[in-house]
Amino acid sequence: MASLLFFGSLLFLSGAALGSNNSIPLVLWHGMGDNCCNPLSMGSIKKMVEDKLPGIYVLSLMIGKTIAEDTESGFFVDVNKQVDIACEKIAQDPKLKGGYNAMGFSQGAQFLRAVAQRCPVPPMKNLISVGGQHQGVYGLPRCPGESSHICDWIRRALDSGAYTDAVQKRLVQAQYWHDPINSDLYKQHSLFLADINQERVVNETYKKNLMSLEKFVMVKFLKDTVVDPVISEWFGFFKPGQAKETETLQESALYKEDRLGLAQMDKAGKLVFLFSDGDHLQFDQAWFNAKLIPYLQ
Ligand SMILES: *[C@@H]1O[C@H](CO)[C@@H](O)[C@H](O)[C@H]1NC(C)=O
Ligand SMILES: *[C@@H]1O[C@H](CO)[C@@H](O)[C@H](O)[C@H]1NC(C)=O
Repeated sequence: MASLLFFGSLLFLSGAALGSNNSIPLVLWHGMGDNCCNPLSMGSIKKMVEDKLPGIYVLSLMIGKTIAEDTESGFFVDVNKQVDIACEKIAQDPKLKGGYNAMGFSQGAQFLRAVAQRCPVPPMKNLISVGGQHQGVYGLPRCPGESSHICDWIRRALDSGAYTDAVQKRLVQAQYWHDPINSDLYKQHSLFLADINQERVVNETYKKNLMSLEKFVMVKFLKDTVVDPVISEWFGFFKPGQAKETETLQESALYKEDRLGLAQMDKAGKLVFLFSDGDHLQFDQAWFNAKLIPYLQ
């Protein structure tokens, strides 16, 4: 997906002079339509990180046996199953056993949050969400990259009934589809997002695990044309019962009731809200180095 990332310049100074090899390992999870190993997206993120932090171990998650399967999984494999697979890969990797930082792109960010909440061993230290949709989406105005034919199909499937079992089980995007007008349907039938956002029950384990993060960094893209509403990238959403006015995380019931520990994390200075002035997942290397590298050291 060539348009995933836009780098004004790929020139940078080698970080080799820094020389040390005590960086915390990093786990990456790609976004919709992308895969673990695309040299233009995750591959270049990996390279940027390795150049700044020489010797760092970077694991870019692949769900499935091949790169093509990994891309397809992003559309068609039950998210709960994908999270299980990710947890297993992370637990089995000897290089991660002392803990790791995690960076998720777009839907990969909410999937990594589920990893933090469900799989505390080994410990995730910082979670960096780059354009993730923590309150889901209610609209898919534009698909990223070359997936537009798939997006048309997805929109039709979601229109026909996002919360029917058949669509929930077969379509990843339905599992974070959040209809603010029919919020009871969402709460009852969303197999993934309503679960990790504690809409049905408050799972104290989820709360405890999320609160164990050192930092939860969320990046919002100010000119995002892919995610609706964009404030979901900062864990906000539409105010209940309508789809026009939005509310911030701090204004939401989730925060006020502190069902997920986010209010406590906020007060402890663990939540970090960053923005990039571009469209979905668009930033340049200078921005990445200045804003995100500090959370990987
Ligand atoms: C840095 O340390 C990691 C983990 O201990 C190791 O896997 C990696 O090979 C080392 N890299 C270098 C360049 O020494
Ligand atoms: C809470 O989450 C943990 C970890 O995923 C799970 O084992 C447990 O069954 C969940 N409890 C409830 C009540 O859902």
